[in-house]
Amino acid sequence: MTLKPLLGYGKEILSKVLEPGDIAVDATVGNGHDTLFLATCTGADGQVYGFDVQAEALASAKARLDEAGVLERVTLWQAGHEQMGERLAMHRGQVKAVTFNLGYLPGGDKERVTVTSTTLPALEAALDLLAPGGLVTAMLYSGHPQGKEEAQAVLEWAKGLDQKRAHVLLYQFWNQKNDPPVLLAIEKRNSPST
Ligand SMILES: C[S@@+](CC[C@H](N)C(=O)[O-])C[C@H]1O[C@@H](n2cnc3c(N)ncnc32)[C@H](O)[C@@H]1O
Repeated sequence: MTLKPLLGYGKEILSKVLEPGDIAVDATVGNGHDTLFLATCTGADGQVYGFDVQAEALASAKARLDEAGVLERVTLWQAGHEQMGERLAMHRGQVKAVTFNLGYLPGGDKERVTVTSTTLPALEAALDLLAPGGLVTAMLYSGHPQGKEEAQAVLEWAKGLDQKRAHVLLYQFWNQKNDPPVLLAIEKRNSPST
């Protein structure tokens, strides 16, 4: 297929923004696939921070990162991503990318999902932490009950972002059946005049 699947497209745009030495955040670490991707893009001089509320997820991610030899440059917190603004206040305006992969841990408890009440403050904090030209990506899943409500709320929030503050892109396969996921990408603008 010429058109990129959502996860692949998300990685492609993140890799265009991230350079060796950059700071990146995985807002939903899960099994650590995205964390590893961010650590690879930011290289040995980079720094990656990761949030997840589940110990099980962080243990799985830690093993993956350790095996890949990147664990020493990743800081993992068993904490909600809504704490991002507070925990990363020292990097405000310096973070190049924040990625969210919402929903539940693959292979884990399907009841432990991300929820609107914490996802929205986390997205707002992520945008605030970004450097100009930095990127937030979010995979939104409407295929489970809380996910539908969460995805609608996130899309509503993103639609309301001031064009002077951010460019917002929505990437989705329009004719897929059964509530396919969508990828949201938010690029922080360089300055109010650009
Ligand atoms: C779809 S999974 C993430 C997949 C992951 N990016 C990967 O590469 O495997 C969503 C994760 O979000 C976590 N989560 C739920 N609520 C959260 C919150 N408030 N803050 C951070 N993570 C949360 C879940 O525990 C779950 O592991």
